[in-house]
Amino acid sequence: MIPPVPHIVLTGATGQIAPLMVRHLPAHHRVTLTSRTPSPGVDRPGVRHVTCDYDVCESLVAAFRDADALFVVTNDPTRPEHDRNVVRAAVEAGVGHIVKLSAAAVLDDGAHDLVTEWQRRNEERIRASGIPWTMVRPRSFMSHALGWAPDIRGHDSTYALHPHSRNACIAPEDVAEVSARLLGDSGHYFRSYQLTGPQALSAHEQSAVLAEVLGRPLVCRELSPEEARRRHSRRYSEAMADALLVSAERQLAGAKSRTTDTVERITGRPATTFAQWALDHRDRFA
Ligand SMILES: NC(=O)c1ccc[n+]([C@@H]2O[C@H](COP(=O)([O-])OP(=O)(O)OC[C@H]3O[C@@H](n4cnc5c(N)ncnc54)[C@H](OP(=O)(O)O)[C@@H]3O)[C@@H](O)[C@H]2O)c1
Repeated sequence: MIPPVPHIVLTGATGQIAPLMVRHLPAHHRVTLTSRTPSPGVDRPGVRHVTCDYDVCESLVAAFRDADALFVVTNDPTRPEHDRNVVRAAVEAGVGHIVKLSAAAVLDDGAHDLVTEWQRRNEERIRASGIPWTMVRPRSFMSHALGWAPDIRGHDSTYALHPHSRNACIAPEDVAEVSARLLGDSGHYFRSYQLTGPQALSAHEQSAVLAEVLGRPLVCRELSPEEARRRHSRRYSEAMADALLVSAERQLAGAKSRTTDTVERITGRPATTFAQWALDHRDRFA
């Protein structure tokens, strides 16, 4: 008998990670991408988009039905019912394996901000679901630097609270490739992976790299906590802005600078440097 074609479901179709995962999945797999809004189409046969909403459990059950593996991305710590619905639907839909996009901070003893506590509860819920699981715990994505693009274009500046504190940030492309390799692989069941880039860098050092890549000087300016809060509030809820400020203090204390070799162990190639990531995304800053 011909074995059935594996079915992989990726939530977060319009987010940073899921669209980058598709090219790392075996070409014969059936892939379903899900989000509330249609994704801008991944050009590969066997890939479809299904609309669903974390608020509507039935829409999730329908989207997850018979998935051999499910990649879970949720992004609102103030809406824990989203995470409860996702796990309930995964159980009801008969999902075979959950790969959960979590965060490195869950391992930091001193981390008690809103986002970290939410991710800890999410992990616990998945571990209690009865479905085989794998946790992916990345440090900050290098793509946060894209938030500087208007400042760089407008006045050759970057901005950060604690600009000399370091973070072992990771390329979203690396998070995606590792996550894709874990999906449906029983060798990774019941394991958690902390992912970082190859070195810890400060905002000041990232600015110097960007200046080199763009071929012109940039000034990295220090923000006061009030200014940092105002900038976060443009993109995030008040609760998230507060959590990010608390998290920045942990970074200042050195909690985010340790690197791991997980990307290399899982993909067989070194983790992407910030310099390479900046070169690959040069057009976004120019
Ligand atoms: N950013 C970092 O540096 C970083 C580092 C470590 C861990 N993480 C973790 O990575 C995760 C992703 O974070 P992000 O903010 O960067 O997310 P993101 O890439 O913007 O992705 C969020 C996705 O969730 C979908 N979504 C949101 N609400 C939904 C709903 N009600 N129903 C269905 N889909 C919904 C969005 O699609 P639609 O809105 O189109 O529906 C989008 O595709 C978070 O869990 C975060 O803690 C992030």
